[in-house]
Amino acid sequence: AEPELAEHFEATLRRNDRIEPRDWMPEAYRATLVRQIAQHAHSEVIGMQPEGNWVTRAPSLRRKAVLLAKVQDEAGHGLYLYSACETLGTSRRELTEKLISGRQKYSSIFNYPTLSYADVGTIGWLVDGAAICNQVPLCRTSFGPYGRAMIRICKEESFHQRQGYELLMTMMRGTDEQRAMVQESVDRFWWPALMMFGPPDADSPNTERSMAWGIKRNTNDELRQKFVDMTVPQARALGVTLPDPELRWDEQRQAHHFGQPDWAEFKQVVSGNGPCNAQRVAHRKRAHDEGAWVREAATAFAAKQAAAAEE
Ligand code: 3HC
Repeated sequence: AEPELAEHFEATLRRNDRIEPRDWMPEAYRATLVRQIAQHAHSEVIGMQPEGNWVTRAPSLRRKAVLLAKVQDEAGHGLYLYSACETLGTSRRELTEKLISGRQKYSSIFNYPTLSYADVGTIGWLVDGAAICNQVPLCRTSFGPYGRAMIRICKEESFHQRQGYELLMTMMRGTDEQRAMVQESVDRFWWPALMMFGPPDADSPNTERSMAWGIKRNTNDELRQKFVDMTVPQARALGVTLPDPELRWDEQRQAHHFGQPDWAEFKQVVSGNGPCNAQRVAHRKRAHDEGAWVREAATAFAAKQAAAAEE
């Protein structure tokens, strides 16, 4: 039976059709999807912390309302992705325990601090911009629930990116201090944003197999290049300088040549030694512990409901 099932799996991929939760799949396909979708979900949930830092200090009610809406969207994206991951036979409880114990990761970008209000705009413009470059191809990922979750998430991500860009444009039209604050923020977030796409293809152990399985539709370097090409004109329109002395247009390649991120720094951050890793995980653990009573109450209520239904 297995050879026929494996052939059916391969034929489905060849047709660019979706693999659904009840389909047979190689255990390694399941495992790499759990790994990637879990990390994606964790990224959304942890990603609420850097921006949440500025909700109480937003400069106007409008900015506070927009930021609140965005942070709430990220929470929803996380829950969406945990649900997609649960279709592979894991549970949100198990994934949360793995995040809190450090056995599962989240995107490196959220281990950097948000030191000024301009960071709220920069995160929208660069981090959500990078997320869009990475997530649009994932709408066509071979695993059904993941691809379908991406379609809605990408629509909301564009709002996130636009509100960030508009915030920065407003500040760039303000005072010299505001312009300096924006430039300082871009200087801090540019290279970490490029690291979001993962290591260079040559150092990426998962890319080749993820491409063969249609989980990834582009390599890390392809998407990084797409992001740089998309962002350079936006930076010019904003009037900010991207902190890369090697950045220039390559007429021959019809693409921008750019410098390499500090991959040693990337490895440090991914292995848990970034500026905010301990703080982010501790915050997540505290929220989980403080929410235990809600989970217990919901479970007790569900049990009571079930018992009443049986009577
Ligand atoms: N941060 C943390 N870990 C990273 C990373 C990053 N930026 N980039 C790569 N890694 C890890 C990988 O997880 C892998 O480690 P593992 O095997 O222990 O999991 C290792 O580094 C090697 O990288 P690979 O390129 O071989 O790994 P992948 O094939 O998984 O590619 C990826 C990495 C491109 C990030 C891919 O996992 C992916 O596309 N994930 C889904 C997108 C995602 O997670 N985005 C998070 C961005 S933030 C976000 O979406 C919130 C938004 O609202 C702002």
